[in-house]
Amino acid sequence: MEIDTTTLISKLPKAELHLHVEGTLEPELMLELARKNNVAIKYSTVEELRGAYNFKNLQSFLDIYYAGTKTLVNEEDFYRLTYNYLVRAMNNNIIHAEISYDPQAHIRRGVKFETITEGIISAMKDLRRNLGISSNLILSFLRDLPEENAIRVLDEATSYIHEIKAVGLDSAELGNPPSKFSKAFEIAKDMGLLRVAHAGEEGPPSYIWEAIEILNVERIDHGVKAIEDPNLMEYLARERIPLTMCPLSNKKLNVIPDMKNYPVREFLKRGIMATINSDDPGYFGGYVNENYTAIQRALNLTPEEICTLASNSILASFISEERKREILKKINGVCEKHGVQSFNLSFDS
Ligand code: ADE
Ligand code: ZN
Repeated sequence: MEIDTTTLISKLPKAELHLHVEGTLEPELMLELARKNNVAIKYSTVEELRGAYNFKNLQSFLDIYYAGTKTLVNEEDFYRLTYNYLVRAMNNNIIHAEISYDPQAHIRRGVKFETITEGIISAMKDLRRNLGISSNLILSFLRDLPEENAIRVLDEATSYIHEIKAVGLDSAELGNPPSKFSKAFEIAKDMGLLRVAHAGEEGPPSYIWEAIEILNVERIDHGVKAIEDPNLMEYLARERIPLTMCPLSNKKLNVIPDMKNYPVREFLKRGIMATINSDDPGYFGGYVNENYTAIQRALNLTPEEICTLASNSILASFISEERKREILKKINGVCEKHGVQSFNLSFDS
């Protein structure tokens, strides 16, 4: 039976595990918020904004990304941003999302931690209640700021500890190795928070090793550069450390020269729990289904590989084992219906 992979991708229930909520700011909302909040931005139309989204590397993207965050001022702005993302995610058949946010990017321009966090959490709760999409919140530290700054934010997070699932590490990677944040991650662990970190996006495999060995992360965000280190790939597979990969992001930021070079098939072959995510979909031209479709086309991924990637997203998530089993059953059902009789789970559930 010929299987329509685009339909399969859209029908599969999936989790999104690598998503910056500030990176879901679409040009339309950015312009509306800029007007409402009296914030000056360099561009005045949607077309001009989209035209500026031509990035040389991670830093050239971050410059535009942080400029865009300045339009987010009130609790209601963070609510709308998160609400809009979750509705889009649902339309991509995302049944669970793990949402990162960058409090320091807002605190440094005078927005209160409570304003940001309350806005995001309220939208997460409303959509869970009204539409059944579940979500976890990941507080990300900006790695280009000093560690003391991260520790201060953690202190502010104490009163929201039950609303935050994990800490993360993002922003400019080169020159800011994970080891710089050893103390902050240790404090987070003692607070009962799980840990993830961007590593091996632009940085070398040694940054991935540091994130694992020094920060004790449960997942690596990106991890593309693991392809350069066979020992690391073997370790990731053996220790079941998932990678949250973002093909459209990596292409837009020139992490890979061509989608045809994307290492996801190689990772799956080696038994690494690779997952597909959208990173900053407002800037990179696609949400989760578009990321799956782009990589399917470039690598001619088989329906079995697509089913494995969707299952991995559930296995690598921070939801309960019971819920994982329930969703995996549904995934199996969809895969069977599309003629996929069996596929590899990267790891047994
Ligand atoms: N912040 C938002 N998107 C990011 C990315 N792709 N890498 C590092 N920091 C980020
Ligand atoms: Zn990211």
